[in-house]
Amino acid sequence: MSNATQRIALVTGGANGIGDAIIAGLAETGVKVFSLDRAEPKQLRDGVVYLDADVSDPEQVAGVFARIDEAGQGIDIVVHSAGIQRSGLVGQLSFKDWSDVIGTHLTGMFLVASEAMPRMIKQGRGGAIISIASTAAFVGLPGRGPYTAAKAGIAGLTRSLAVEAAPYRIRVNAVAPGFTRTAIIEDAIANGSLQEDWMLERVPMRRLAEPAEIAKVVRFLASDDSAYVTGQTIVADGGWTIQGINKSPDWLNARDGQK
Ligand SMILES: NC(=O)c1ccc[n+]([C@@H]2O[C@H](COP(=O)([O-])OP(=O)(O)OC[C@H]3O[C@@H](n4cnc5c(N)ncnc54)[C@H](O)[C@@H]3O)[C@@H](O)[C@H]2O)c1
Repeated sequence: MSNATQRIALVTGGANGIGDAIIAGLAETGVKVFSLDRAEPKQLRDGVVYLDADVSDPEQVAGVFARIDEAGQGIDIVVHSAGIQRSGLVGQLSFKDWSDVIGTHLTGMFLVASEAMPRMIKQGRGGAIISIASTAAFVGLPGRGPYTAAKAGIAGLTRSLAVEAAPYRIRVNAVAPGFTRTAIIEDAIANGSLQEDWMLERVPMRRLAEPAEIAKVVRFLASDDSAYVTGQTIVADGGWTIQGINKSPDWLNARDGQK
């Protein structure tokens, strides 16, 4: 792809995990990527511009878009993957933990979309805004109130923004991963707030997702292959949310044993 038609992306949370895999996936298709993260990247990827910013801070997000403006090629794709996790029951959870989680996930999406939308509309070349939600958007996770609320909020804002953006050929979608092997999950396993066996028991495919598998769904939503898809939150969870029963009854297990 020549530079004249090269697409430009911003990925929040690009220093680690799913965000880093998204950057790798987009870069493979010739997209020029800016990363917004408040942490240093574990691995620097060629050609990526890493910008240090807090996605929940309006001025810092505006500063990142000013840098994209300076580069002079516009913006075509925005992916919001930055995220944190705080655990605790409502009644014990602090206001700060609530605000930090909502601020990073939901307000972060609002802030990047607020900067991106006017630019994409003015450019007149369409675009894609994609946020990383979670299966938590669809189920009740005890002890994860702010996270569940923020992810459901992302699904809602995705629908609302999709309708606002559609006349300008800007598509707005989200991806809801299930358990994916990144630091957020490894840390939860290490501190005992998640148990790997318990997670796998609930996943019909009996494995965690790899970050690259989530990145491929994002790449689809960023590409013209999804030209008629907007306002959706696509679940990629190995069947976790659609499973009606956790364990099969004995007669079904017996049948499985005959294979
Ligand atoms: N890993 C999973 O199992 C899983 C499942 C469902 C959804 N998700 C979602 O996927 C997204 C990525 O998660 P991950 O597993 O890659 O986690 P991760 O911890 O590996 O990466 C998250 C990145 O976000 C950055 N970040 C956090 N707060 C920020 C802020 N205020 N400003 C800028 N950057 C910030 C971190 O520095 C980090 O680089 C999150 O939104 C998470 O909720 C993850």
